[in-house]
Amino acid sequence: MALLDIIVAPDPRLKKKAVSVESVDKATAKLMADMLDTMYEAPGVGLAAPQVGVLKRIIVVDPAQEDEKPRPLKMANPEIFWSSEEVKEYEEGCLSLPEEYEPVQRPDRIKVRYLDEKNQPQELEADGILAVVIQHEMDHLDGVLFVDHISSLKRGMILRRLTKIKKLSKAQKPKATLKRRSLASA
Ligand code: NI
Repeated sequence: MALLDIIVAPDPRLKKKAVSVESVDKATAKLMADMLDTMYEAPGVGLAAPQVGVLKRIIVVDPAQEDEKPRPLKMANPEIFWSSEEVKEYEEGCLSLPEEYEPVQRPDRIKVRYLDEKNQPQELEADGILAVVIQHEMDHLDGVLFVDHISSLKRGMILRRLTKIKKLSKAQKPKATLKRRSLASA
């Protein structure tokens, strides 16, 4: 098990577009496992490779609540090929935007295809929190953060707050104080 460092916004590395993986080889599968460990440790419900400094189209998610059995998903090259017209609003958070939560609207249901950790093509229909987390993580692959979906006024406030915290805590590393493992951090 290896824990990876999560990049906190604002950071130019979070604004870049990630590239597809050719195939899910051993190194990719190891990265997926490390990302999942890092996500559980944070704790969060999703993590995208660009958040740990790897510009590849890889995400891991687990929407299970603390009292539920884990149901992790590891996805390479995820692609949404259908989404519902019906949208829903959830309060989102992000491990790269610690302690910040804002409501975001997204399609309520999606169908996604991807390569799993064994390089097998898979299709999945998702709704509710799972659909939200997958869409949130896939945004990271295109350099999009959840704050890019809210008003520029709110986004500016959040990014200024995070910049200030980064400056203040150069000496003492910020520690995530997230207690709840809700949609919180992805
Ligand atoms: Ni995120």
